Amino acid sequence: MLLVADPNAVRGCEVREQRVDRGVQQIWISAARRPILAIDHASYHHRSVEVVGYERWHLGGIVALCLDEGWPSFPADSERAHRVLTAPGVTAVVAVEGRAVLGFASLQSDGEIQAHLSNIVVARSHRQTGVARRLLQNGIERSGGERIDLVTDTAESFYQALHHKRWNGYRIYPPFT
Ligand SMILES: CC(C)(COP(=O)(O)OP(=O)(O)OC[C@H]1O[C@@H](n2cnc3c(N)ncnc32)[C@H](O)[C@@H]1OP(=O)(O)O)[C@@H](O)C(=O)NCCC(=O)NCCS
Repeated sequence: MLLVADPNAVRGCEVREQRVDRGVQQIWISAARRPILAIDHASYHHRSVEVVGYERWHLGGIVALCLDEGWPSFPADSERAHRVLTAPGVTAVVAVEGRAVLGFASLQSDGEIQAHLSNIVVARSHRQTGVARRLLQNGIERSGGERIDLVTDTAESFYQALHHKRWNGYRIYPPFT
């Protein structure tokens, strides 16, 4: 079976039949006994990655993503990470492709006005394909809220690509007295 990345590769052949199966376009040409598969990689990618609510089986993949980023808190105690991701007021969403965890985000929200982004990460292999946008959109739809506040020292370019207002951010630590 011949796999072509560009559907234009079969342009000029006499097309007998076309079908789409899970984002993969099958093109049957008159001379071929088998289909030629033409994959539109952008839309195939987009369709095969799903954003879903956090479930316990995602935990190992989430911890692996954090380790890859050098983020210590979740890998240090994965049971604590599970409690964090399922805590009251927390909405955690996960990007999956089959059983592979490709990204996650967690938000805290009052359900009406104000949400805060605690974490967002996408696997290096799947960056710049819109996964983080989808995590944020799905996350705020589930959590409620009109806007998301966050602090970052790693992802300025990503947030600048989104509709935003810029403020000065602080992360403050107790004790406060
Ligand atoms: C930040 C991060 C989550 C973005 O994920 P992503 O899936 O690649 O982002 P998207 O594909 O949804 O990108 C959305 C927009 O941001 C832009 N963008 C994303 N990363 C960018 C980068 N490194 N430089 C420039 N623009 C970037 C995209 O071009 C896109 O713009 P467009 O929709 O106008 O074309 C990902 O790079 C990541 O996991 N980084 C490491 C972890 C991290 O720093 N998390 C943030 C902690 S505050």
